[in-house]
Amino acid sequence: MKVEFLGSYREDLPKDHFKEVVFVGRSNVGKSSLINMLVGEPVARVSKEPGRTRSINAFLLEGRIKLVDVPGYGFAKVSKAERESWKRLIESYFRERRQNIRCVFVLIDSKVGPTDLDKLMIEWLRHINIPYKVVLTKTDKASQKELSKSLELLKVVGVNEVIITSAKEGKGKKELYRSILEVVEG
Ligand code: GTP
Ligand code: MG
Repeated sequence: MKVEFLGSYREDLPKDHFKEVVFVGRSNVGKSSLINMLVGEPVARVSKEPGRTRSINAFLLEGRIKLVDVPGYGFAKVSKAERESWKRLIESYFRERRQNIRCVFVLIDSKVGPTDLDKLMIEWLRHINIPYKVVLTKTDKASQKELSKSLELLKVVGVNEVIITSAKEGKGKKELYRSILEVVEG
């Protein structure tokens, strides 16, 4: 797959006309790894320490689809000021790119299941009326029981369709790609 790094932003978001899909989720949930799995090269920076991605990073897939990696939420060790700046960045990003965003992929750890912040993110996306899809990550680390539990908890909050992935095993790559094409072309 052809992919190029477009840039890293903290403010002055670009004003291009690309259609874009966004990857959000808890810090350390595997956003950057999932993007790398999808494109087949390590374009996004992956780290063992949570809270690594501090800015918005954008990649261009096949010269036409923008993939956006946003900083994760819910990392306990950040100051109130950092949380505020995260909120400002995310809100201005969604406001400025509303017309370009085709779908937000909300990543949830399959072993942990949906956290309160994940549910809040889903509620907020529903509220601002932006299409979203839920992706379960790191299934290689979850037992069948944990995975079923996560799916069940998602159903409780009205999420019935889930893309199941493992960046480590390359699982769900086709489904994710298909889903991106669907939202961009559909
Ligand atoms: P932030 O940028 O800090 O918000 O994190 P992120 O959501 O981008 O997570 P990242 O992709 O950096 O991965 C965090 C850690 O989880 C790294 O140590 C990855 O190697 C690991 N990881 C990511 N995906 C998988 C997976 O599918 N399976 C396993 N076992 N580990 C994974
Ligand atoms: Mg990251």
